[in-house]
Amino acid sequence: MPETEDPVNWFNENFREMVERYSLDKDYMQGYMDLLETFCDLVEGEKVLDAGCGWGRDVDYFQRNGLEAKGIDLAGQALAFARQNMQGEFIRSGIKDTGLEDGSFQGIWCNSVIHFYPEEEMKEIISEISRITSPGGVFYLSFKLTEDSPESFIRREEDGSRIKRYLVTRSFAEEALERNGFRVLEKYSEVNEEGFENPVWNVFCRRTSQH
Ligand SMILES: C[S@@+](CC[C@H](N)C(=O)[O-])C[C@H]1O[C@@H](n2cnc3c(N)ncnc32)[C@H](O)[C@@H]1O
Repeated sequence: MPETEDPVNWFNENFREMVERYSLDKDYMQGYMDLLETFCDLVEGEKVLDAGCGWGRDVDYFQRNGLEAKGIDLAGQALAFARQNMQGEFIRSGIKDTGLEDGSFQGIWCNSVIHFYPEEEMKEIISEISRITSPGGVFYLSFKLTEDSPESFIRREEDGSRIKRYLVTRSFAEEALERNGFRVLEKYSEVNEEGFENPVWNVFCRRTSQH
């Protein structure tokens, strides 16, 4: 992937403006707060991981709400910000090959990350997350939906049109999760994000079987 199209580089260069825009005290973040609260209610246990944690906002939220929270990301500058300003533990690691122990988390949170990768890589990421989730563990993630052709993607003007976001059908997402031992829970939401036509599917799953 050319460096200019790498979502990690893009995030490292741009995360500072998101710190203010997407802070949890904004009124328009209420829907997102509801997702965080639902996750905390569903998790049975304490160990949670934010896969693709960025500047650490959600790790901080989990840690302050009684969980033992870790965040992983490859964006070094965003991680440095997180270590200085947020609670929780931050590790520089990729989400396709985390190097973390099998079944070591009761909850995994992965917001606004997986859609930066095409379908085959999404499957690799889900498989790796499945490996490190404990049986009965909860997995939250968000997809960008399309109703028709899979493998299509969109770009946004605001990002200099460099970064691709891959769209999936709901059936692709459900199948990829189920094949990796996740049961999709009834609690989900579909929201429309500013600047995008395609809805985001926020989905919660529970890990059923061993892998
Ligand atoms: C749009 S940001 C979302 C950050 C955070 N989850 C949030 O909701 O604010 C996407 C994040 O995914 C990270 N990311 C993308 N690909 C990654 C990979 N292969 N391994 C680890 N982190 C990755 C980026 O560095 C960035 O922090």
